Amino acid sequence: MIHTITPSRVTRTLSGLVVVMLAACGGGDAPSQPTGFSAGWRYQGTPKPATGLEGMVVTTDHLASDVGVDILRAGGNAVDAAIAVQFALAVVNPEAGNIGGGGFMVVRMADGSSAALDFREKAPAAASRDMFLDEQGNLTNKSLVGHLAAGVPGSVAGMWAAHERFGSLPWSALVEPAVGLAAGFVVRPRFLGSLSPGMVRSLSAYAASAEQFLPNDGLPPSVGDTLRQLDLAATLSRIRDQGPAGFYRGETADLIVAEMARGEGIITHGDLESYEAAWRDPITFTYRGYTVLSMPPSSSGGATMAEIANILEQYDLAALGWNSTETIHLYAEAWKRAYADRNDYLADPDFVDMPLTRMTSKGYAVERASTISLDAATPSAEVAPGMDAPVEEENTTHYSIVDKAGNAAAVTTTINSWYGSKVTVTGAGFVLNNEMDDFSAKPGTSNSYGLVQGENNAVGPGKRMLSAMAPTIVLGPDGDLKMVTGSPGGSTIITTVFQTIANVLDFGMNVVDAVQAPRVHHQHLPDQIFYEPASLEPATRFALEALGHTVVQRDDVSGDVQMILVVDGRLTGWSDPRRGGRAIGY
Ligand code: DON
Repeated sequence: MIHTITPSRVTRTLSGLVVVMLAACGGGDAPSQPTGFSAGWRYQGTPKPATGLEGMVVTTDHLASDVGVDILRAGGNAVDAAIAVQFALAVVNPEAGNIGGGGFMVVRMADGSSAALDFREKAPAAASRDMFLDEQGNLTNKSLVGHLAAGVPGSVAGMWAAHERFGSLPWSALVEPAVGLAAGFVVRPRFLGSLSPGMVRSLSAYAASAEQFLPNDGLPPSVGDTLRQLDLAATLSRIRDQGPAGFYRGETADLIVAEMARGEGIITHGDLESYEAAWRDPITFTYRGYTVLSMPPSSSGGATMAEIANILEQYDLAALGWNSTETIHLYAEAWKRAYADRNDYLADPDFVDMPLTRMTSKGYAVERASTISLDAATPSAEVAPGMDAPVEEENTTHYSIVDKAGNAAAVTTTINSWYGSKVTVTGAGFVLNNEMDDFSAKPGTSNSYGLVQGENNAVGPGKRMLSAMAPTIVLGPDGDLKMVTGSPGGSTIITTVFQTIANVLDFGMNVVDAVQAPRVHHQHLPDQIFYEPASLEPATRFALEALGHTVVQRDDVSGDVQMILVVDGRLTGWSDPRRGGRAIGY
């Protein structure tokens, strides 16, 4: 028999649950590993989290976390530290941290104000809808590799905008640590993990990339070697001394434009000079009595997560159990509905009207949930985008920072793939993004994350490509800071970030388990539930298949969550062991 859970029935169950959850969540340091862990899962046990009373920085790289903590200790606030970390990651995490890419920052200040900064790349003015198709109308790989793949970088303008509005220390003091690291830093295994044999081959195609990252006669450096990126140090010095003019004008701009001429690139001086970051209002929604602040378009992160949270809030997930067949089934059903909407409606708000208020409303989520059956998967082919025409006007890394005053910054930044377009700007020492692939290069055809997106996100001059990045801050029922979280992972970012929140609010995990617990993913198309290697018991997989799901083990783990959780006024933090960063509190 197929029966549909009516949301009203479940909501009634939940009203009692909310009281229990508010008391239970928060975790502390005590191990909180839930039942349901597969014996084969690689992150067993619950190490002690980093703790701090005054401040905390969690990033994917130990050296970058050190830079952030130094800035906090020197009296900088969370945004100052975020700016310094962004530049440091451009040096020590060049496969994803960047000045040649873009990203998003969500800020929540201790005075209760909040802001969202969009420093996403933009398509150059000469970009056009079909620029990535060949003469037969087939997709080429030019949105992924080479000069044409690069959007106009936004990171330097973004950091400058953040500093103008919230910074308290001098700009030069925030860029200087990165200049020092670019002069030379000691290579650790985490960085070398990004230089696989395949990556070495790809980077070798571009002389400046090979020179910078393959200094041992065309091979990567060894652990313990000092990697000197002197062109990058010079570029960062110009940014330190001249602000955005040190990147978007003068020598750096000349080097970028000259690099374009070496490939088929189309970024011009005009594109660079006219780039501006944009301040937006965070997407704000509640989940189990907590308030979640996340990124609005041009990222899909916040709006899609709001739809997911509003659908799943109607079910008693805690009672169904973490990693249970029922919970994973409901996750998949909520995610395929929310991603169907995401992929069809969302895009750059400066170009496209989107039904954002409706998409993030509780009422729409009730409608969406009414088609979910507990006993059978709805095939994605039957899950259409759920709204009528728009009714309103309207390899990545994440870091999380909290300062002494309680200001919080969540930043996700990217050049898209690892080492972006693989093109290093000759003489300037930084890698250009391949963010153009986040557009629907051919609407209706999948991109490198398998996302099938629509016409709204087609390429257009000056347009921002839709992102999934979801830097997120969660506030408790009393408005106090509760959580700062985010992750890379392309299309999986939204489901990853949602699971970190549910792991705490629904399943009572502490910060370590909330980050380390295995994750599942569904994105409407392909119509598959993905799970991390050895993370699902065969019985659960068979039960999901019996419900009609196709269940696929990923080749590798996914995501790299950097999370801070406030527990009884104390900061606890954990960096995802999937890549090996560092949480430092004090
Ligand atoms: O903006 C986006 O959604 C993607 N460009 C993010 C890429 C990413 O997370 C790659 N990292 N694993």
